[in-house]
Amino acid sequence: MIFPHDNQLAILVDDDQQLREAGAQSLGLAGIDVRAFPDAQGALRTINREFDGVVVTDLRMPKMDGLEFFDRIKEIDAGIPVIFITGHADVPIAVRALHDGAFDFQTKPFVAEELVAAIRNAQEKRRLVLDNRALRAAIGGGDSPLIGDSPRMVELRETIAQFARADIDVLVEGETGTGKELIAHMLHRQSRRRGRPFVAVNCAAILDHVAELELFGRAFGTLPNDRKEVIGRIEASSSGTLFLDEIDGSSPAVQASLLRVIEEREITRAGSSEPRAVDLRIIASSKRDLARLSEAGEFRKDLYYRLSMVRLRLPPLREHRADIPQLFSYFVETAKEKMGTEHYAMNDAVRRHLLNHSWPGNVRELRNFAFEAVLGISQAADADSGEAPRSLVKRMEQFERSILRDALRLTRGDIPRTMELLELPRKTLYDKLGRYQINPKYFRG
Ligand SMILES: Nc1ncnc2c1ncn2[C@@H]1O[C@H](COP(=O)(O)OP(=O)(O)OP(=O)(O)O)[C@@H](O)[C@H]1O
Ligand SMILES: [Mg+2]
Repeated sequence: MIFPHDNQLAILVDDDQQLREAGAQSLGLAGIDVRAFPDAQGALRTINREFDGVVVTDLRMPKMDGLEFFDRIKEIDAGIPVIFITGHADVPIAVRALHDGAFDFQTKPFVAEELVAAIRNAQEKRRLVLDNRALRAAIGGGDSPLIGDSPRMVELRETIAQFARADIDVLVEGETGTGKELIAHMLHRQSRRRGRPFVAVNCAAILDHVAELELFGRAFGTLPNDRKEVIGRIEASSSGTLFLDEIDGSSPAVQASLLRVIEEREITRAGSSEPRAVDLRIIASSKRDLARLSEAGEFRKDLYYRLSMVRLRLPPLREHRADIPQLFSYFVETAKEKMGTEHYAMNDAVRRHLLNHSWPGNVRELRNFAFEAVLGISQAADADSGEAPRSLVKRMEQFERSILRDALRLTRGDIPRTMELLELPRKTLYDKLGRYQINPKYFRG
């Protein structure tokens, strides 16, 4: 078995607090690791394609009911088993859900042993799905999406593998677009925590007045009219990885809250005085040099020390230019696959740009450039950019191409509206788009 966990994991969603607690208790007694949530929204935040457990949910719930929840789970990964708990009156609905791919259902009041048995079966099925996926990825040349064979990249891959296994907190530093988020995901996926939640918090975007609620949640019955508890982002990441993205942009208030979590590994929900332990690995990312920021008094020193025990510095692309061709062709292949384009031939302008540009936006900029080149919309992707075209035909073509693009931008890639706007029949429009390699899809958001 490729998968590292042998225990069972179930997410339990029920808006009825009593039922939820009783359910969690009986599953817990059977040795199942239970994450209980009062609503589907909270549970959804912790579910991703790598989730290696089973979802058990009530059917009737306010706001998002069980069926909608089921649809949302299927959007994330149709291979996640869902077991419904339902009252007798709703059995027909549950049966229909079975036809739609639900794993099983149990009627209320459910018999604990039966639910446990269903969870065990579902868990086995889930493991098979994940094992097969992992095998396929391994056959397909390993699952490392980090492209580049320059010494810097080779070393980086090795360091990531080491850090991942060590289960330590890591500070990832690098300019914009150097792959900080990608690397945070890799650290998670290669660690023993894979399959458990990976929760990313954009620390720069979080507003002070909602920070406590977002991060720590709220206890049951805190507000007079709100009878729901709220599970904060940090608690939702428990047993998994908490990614504190853009930590350098966090406000002093958020920094203070985070320091407590990092030091104590516990959180206290608003309205509660009972701290709860969280089992976390923290990965933080920073665009700027945190050492310097803390020296300058712009970032808490104590927080900086906590975060920076192990740091991973990502080089800007200009420091590993040798990887540009390989990265470019990788992104071109990705773009072709995404856009359903079969042919792409590099021209001189593109080649020149690859060689001469300084790539301040790093790998992300290169990726965008590759996509634009495949779609034929980049300035540099035009064969005749750089110097002004001399021949009349070339200049007419350039003009025509820019009119087509402007129209598509205006209509957001809507073909009928573009036909109307330019007073062109459909076939002519498509012929021209084909000739200039303009893909209307690109303009559709
Ligand atoms: N070495 C690499 N190989 C393949 N793809 C990469 C590599 N580095 C970055 N990318 C890709 O580049 C894009 C930008 O990376 P990412 O979002 O991780 O950057 P970032 O450092 O978090 O940037 P920002 O600071 O702006 O948030 C992503 O699509 C990512 O997959
Ligand atoms: Mg990022």
